[in-house]
Amino acid sequence: MSNKMWGGRFQSGPDALMEEINASIDFDKRLWAQDIRGSLAHLSMLEAQGIVGTADAKAISDGLEAVRGEIEGGTFTFSRALEDIHMNVESRLAAIAGPAAGRLHTARSRNDQVATDFRLWVRDTIDELDGQLADLMTALAEKALAFHDAVMPGFTHLQSAQPVTFGHHLLAYVEMLGRDRGRFADARRRLNESPLGAAALAGTSFPIDRRATAAALGFDRPTANSIDSVSDRDFVLEALAAAAIGAMHLSRFAEEIVIWTTPQFAFVALSDKFTTGSSIMPQKRNPDAAELVRAKAGRVIGALVALLVVMKGLPLAYAKDMQEDKEQAFDALQTLSLATAAMAGMVRDLRPDTARMKTAAGAGYATATDLADWLVRELGLPFREAHHATGRLVGMASAKGDAPLESLTLAEMREVEPRIHEGVYAVLGVENSVRSRTSYGGTAPDNVKAQAERWLKALRS
Ligand code: ARG
Repeated sequence: MSNKMWGGRFQSGPDALMEEINASIDFDKRLWAQDIRGSLAHLSMLEAQGIVGTADAKAISDGLEAVRGEIEGGTFTFSRALEDIHMNVESRLAAIAGPAAGRLHTARSRNDQVATDFRLWVRDTIDELDGQLADLMTALAEKALAFHDAVMPGFTHLQSAQPVTFGHHLLAYVEMLGRDRGRFADARRRLNESPLGAAALAGTSFPIDRRATAAALGFDRPTANSIDSVSDRDFVLEALAAAAIGAMHLSRFAEEIVIWTTPQFAFVALSDKFTTGSSIMPQKRNPDAAELVRAKAGRVIGALVALLVVMKGLPLAYAKDMQEDKEQAFDALQTLSLATAAMAGMVRDLRPDTARMKTAAGAGYATATDLADWLVRELGLPFREAHHATGRLVGMASAKGDAPLESLTLAEMREVEPRIHEGVYAVLGVENSVRSRTSYGGTAPDNVKAQAERWLKALRS
């Protein structure tokens, strides 16, 4: 049987393989609500412009509502033979509303239709993600406030570097996620133009009102170039780029949770809610949720790369290649949504072991920089010399079986720098170290508290 939508030129139906490679309904059916919404906006405009008569418009809108009811009620039969969501809806509409249904597609093509539907879906999804990211930021900022003065080791190269506070470390992620939200907001601003009415690629000779359909669908304005409207998918790419960066941030944090929950670190514990056991090793508590958040970044980044590769080299305007824009984007944005929610759950569940973190903060000569700074401040040494002297002191302590710096006697320290006096011991403790980092953005507990409060206030408004 030849196709109802373009059967005029065709005598027979497609090969089974053609249908299999061509049909997108299995995944694009999730655009059904956006498709009906777009059709209703287009229809009202066609009616207002006198392009479709009132009686026909009524039959079509009733029919679209009936289709909506069937899909919502689970009685709608999606058909691969009808390729995609647009033709599935339209074909059912024709069955319900009769020949009037054929007027809906006046001054419209599936090319501007799919671009509209997908923009609406990406926009809706960005709005949901924004709320979820804000929730994760709130969870992090609350925990940061509660532990604004809990000392932990700060790392570079994953080697103990300088003591910081747990709250400060968590707020680093709040900053990153704040920028992720900003990137999604930027993407949303640029995507919020309506392609509807661009038709196949050239526009239409019908007296349509694109400003009206744009407004009805919550777009800021119609797109200005009909070819661009149906050709580009940068609106999805931008959302995927923001998602890929966000997923990368979540993955780094997830990796830290994996490290911190090992018995070797034991900085934090997760409860039964976010861990699993082992079928053979009774002692195990595995941070599977964190591991999966770490891994899921791969899918999100993959979706971005896949679509960039699909789009590169495509001549304008529409090509069927662009149907490949949806499946991975659906997956990627939903994956980020799940990962974000799981991360918020884990952050709320995390129980830090502050005593253990503090002990670890002192290990590995983490206050060596404090000592060097003290030599500069107290004795007037140039920083490079102070660095060298401190290095020798660290070497000395290390040679004594990795003894802490504060175990060196004054006499020992004076072998390296004769002017060192008692006052030096005050800067060797981790509490003093973090308290001294009062520069703007530094880890001093008062700073951290103020930053956590600033974020919580901003997130609540
Ligand atoms: N299912 C198609 C897609 O997602 C809809 C657009 C089809 N347009 C066309 N000219 N064949 O891209």
